[in-house]
Amino acid sequence: MRVKSIKGVKDILPGEIEKWQWVESLAHRIFAQYGFKEIRIPIFEYTKLFKRSIGETTDIVEKEMYTFQDRSGDEITLRPEGTASVVRSYIEHKMYGSGSLVKLYYMGPMFRYERPQAGRFRQFYQIGVEAMGSANPAVDAEVMSMLIEFFTAIGLQDLELQINSLGCSDCRPNYREVLKGSIKNHLAELCANCNQRYQRNPLRVLDCKVERDREIARNLPRIKDHLCQTCRDDFSTVQALLDSIGTPYSLNDYLVRGLDYYTRTSFEVVARQGLGSQNAICGGGRYDSLVEDFEGPPTPCFGFAIGLERLVSLIPEDKIKNLGTRPDIYVLSLGEEARQESFKLAHILRKNGWVVERELAGGTMKSQMRKANKLASRFVLILGENEIKSGRYILKNMDGGEQVEIPRDSLVAEIRAHLQ
Ligand code: HAM
Repeated sequence: MRVKSIKGVKDILPGEIEKWQWVESLAHRIFAQYGFKEIRIPIFEYTKLFKRSIGETTDIVEKEMYTFQDRSGDEITLRPEGTASVVRSYIEHKMYGSGSLVKLYYMGPMFRYERPQAGRFRQFYQIGVEAMGSANPAVDAEVMSMLIEFFTAIGLQDLELQINSLGCSDCRPNYREVLKGSIKNHLAELCANCNQRYQRNPLRVLDCKVERDREIARNLPRIKDHLCQTCRDDFSTVQALLDSIGTPYSLNDYLVRGLDYYTRTSFEVVARQGLGSQNAICGGGRYDSLVEDFEGPPTPCFGFAIGLERLVSLIPEDKIKNLGTRPDIYVLSLGEEARQESFKLAHILRKNGWVVERELAGGTMKSQMRKANKLASRFVLILGENEIKSGRYILKNMDGGEQVEIPRDSLVAEIRAHLQ
């Protein structure tokens, strides 16, 4: 029986995984510089957690969740994103007790039943960050600048940070009504989706991808003209702080995000080239009332999540040439006696911390050298019949080409001196 992988799901193989590992290690390092700690959240949760947080009328909840009943009849969903779980965990473990900002990050797979296409998968990976416990707009600016530092460390160029403010529970309801009043006059021209959105989630009309609807959206009232004073001041502070450290951004009045929990500053990072239509590599923003919605204490939060497949696909090939683990030593053996000795030697060398490959099947000197080359081994340790007899092995530097003889008895010390 031959079984293939599920549509929209892919393996990440050696050759590509090095990029992922590199990106993940940079995330661990850079996020730690800003005081973030890793959290590992479950892959599945009760369905009601996602329904309530992401929003009943969002595409994710209406059409994209992998939901099933487990054997005890509980409604379970494979996580479509991480924020809801972090909020659940924050409350469950009373992380608010510390009194200071709780700074968490996570990485791992998310699941959405979307139509697969380039850059869009049904199992995809995110690196997410959540800063919990402060409404200070300095948090927004600091977390976004950390994100940009991370992208810069990877060497990504031609990205655009787009920001908007979605208002708060004081000013958004009023804007929603104003917007609905205006959309009402255009219902006949708007697409079927937007006709539904008009009733349930009118802000989503603003980021409809249908060209005609976009033109109509250009003339709809903008949220920036309906923000309360606090939201307006906060948004100005975020911009001033980004300006003060020279982080470029653009204002996007139509950025509304596809999840319902957002308030105030919301943002996306889009790639200007290289990703086609699925060009958002990161999205996030404030969600100031989500913790309270789940009966936690008032806890304003700010966070983001990066789509790893999209991010990794932007990393140029030459950037990662030397990222993979190169063997330090390839043990080449000629003849049965040498092959047995190479088993022991590889064991000793690995115990000393080196990355070691050896030939298992035998072969000529030439074919084994070819393999060592292919693996990009730094050194080759050559064991032929003569070397076994004399107890002096040959160490060949594959980068410089020169070779030296080293005695069996002081093998480790000699190799250490050469591999510095
Ligand atoms: P999101 O915008 O739904 O936000 O997802 C964040 C990123 O995940 C997107 O910008 C995109 O790069 C990637 N992504 C989403 N869906 C797919 C897919 N089907 N295939 C490949 N990549 C995808 C969130 O998930 C929020 N939880 C972010 C957040 C954290 N907000 C506050 N804290």
